[in-house]
Amino acid sequence: MAKILVCGGAGYIGSHMLRALAAAGFKPVVFDSLVKGHLEAVPPDIPFIRGDLLDIQALRRAFSEYNFEAVLHFAARIEVGESVKEPGLYYHNNVGGSLNLLLVMREFGVNRLVFSSTAAVYGNPVQERIDEAHPCAPINPYGRSKWMVEQMIEDFSVADGLKAVCLRYFNAAGADPDGGIGEAHNPESHLIPNILKAAAASARGTAQQAGNAQSVAPDGAPAAPPGPSSPAAPAPTAPAAPGLGLPGLGNDYPTPDGTCVRDYIHVCDLCQAHLLALNYLDECTGKTAFNLGSGTGYSIMQVIEAAERVSGVKIPYTIGPRRAGDAAVLVADSSRARAVLGWKPRFDNLDTIVKTAWDWEIGRKF
Ligand SMILES: NC(=O)c1ccc[n+]([C@@H]2O[C@H](COP(=O)([O-])OP(=O)(O)OC[C@H]3O[C@@H](n4cnc5c(N)ncnc54)[C@H](O)[C@@H]3O)[C@@H](O)[C@H]2O)c1
Repeated sequence: MAKILVCGGAGYIGSHMLRALAAAGFKPVVFDSLVKGHLEAVPPDIPFIRGDLLDIQALRRAFSEYNFEAVLHFAARIEVGESVKEPGLYYHNNVGGSLNLLLVMREFGVNRLVFSSTAAVYGNPVQERIDEAHPCAPINPYGRSKWMVEQMIEDFSVADGLKAVCLRYFNAAGADPDGGIGEAHNPESHLIPNILKAAAASARGTAQQAGNAQSVAPDGAPAAPPGPSSPAAPAPTAPAAPGLGLPGLGNDYPTPDGTCVRDYIHVCDLCQAHLLALNYLDECTGKTAFNLGSGTGYSIMQVIEAAERVSGVKIPYTIGPRRAGDAAVLVADSSRARAVLGWKPRFDNLDTIVKTAWDWEIGRKF
């Protein structure tokens, strides 16, 4: 059975991928430093190597022990705001770690790679629907680190015949309805989990006051402030409590309700695309990139309304004046992934995506 190295397999998307790989008959092996991510998210029957991509000897040991047929590379630092303050951390970890991985893959003759890229490689959109032909001009160190890795991959593919698929995710969201896992970043800078934390806290009458928001969320998603870490299951229609502040988001954008519009794609649909990409590696040559998004944009207000419908909780919020640098609308054109990979997202409805995230939030174990 094909052994697949999953770098970053203890993280949000990587841990969902482990379940998808196992269900599809692959044998995943996790390599993760646990700098983020959670050991609890890795099923006990899946081999786990605690190692850092920056430690090339640890990588060599992993490749010596297992005969990998392909690599899925999720491991990265992902916070845009942090990357602006600590660019060295991002170039060292994301670019340096990926270079080690490419070198060791070459050394061991493993030439199949699926890389987790991001819509952040595009930078400020020059059109509303972003396809793969959109110029890559990232506007922060996080996005630049991912674009640098894509360019390294391209060079290795020309020099060594590496076959690689770079999947450019838009805003990953939701949780495996059956997996007992979900989004658990620390700190959490993504909109949906933070709104749901606020909903859960509101249901308990303990909503936190606004403030302390991340300045920019990963991958161009609007940010929201962290909420309480372990909400108890709320009553279905609990009263509102003061509190979800959304400073810096703004409601004066040229969109129907004035708030930013983003494209949310369910994590299980991302995993499905990775399985298709693994198959595609059999027939492709060189490096290819695909956008992964639902193709439908939702505003911040629509996300809050969906969270209220799903949770049954009235979520109190305030939206502060907008900050610089957020695009009004970021929506994927994923027709290439649909046509070439045969990818078709299953979760095409915002309420369904939010419901899976809510179920995780109210029962989360880590
Ligand atoms: N979450 C999103 O919305 C989103 C959107 C676009 C792209 N992406 C990309 O998807 C990938 C996964 O994102 P996520 O949300 O699951 O993040 P995550 O932080 O939950 O997972 C990343 C994992 O990588 C591990 N890691 C980081 N650096 C490492 C290193 N040097 N060596 C070994 N392990 C290391 C962390 O411990 C963590 O378990 C990232 O590459 C990210 O850039 C995510």
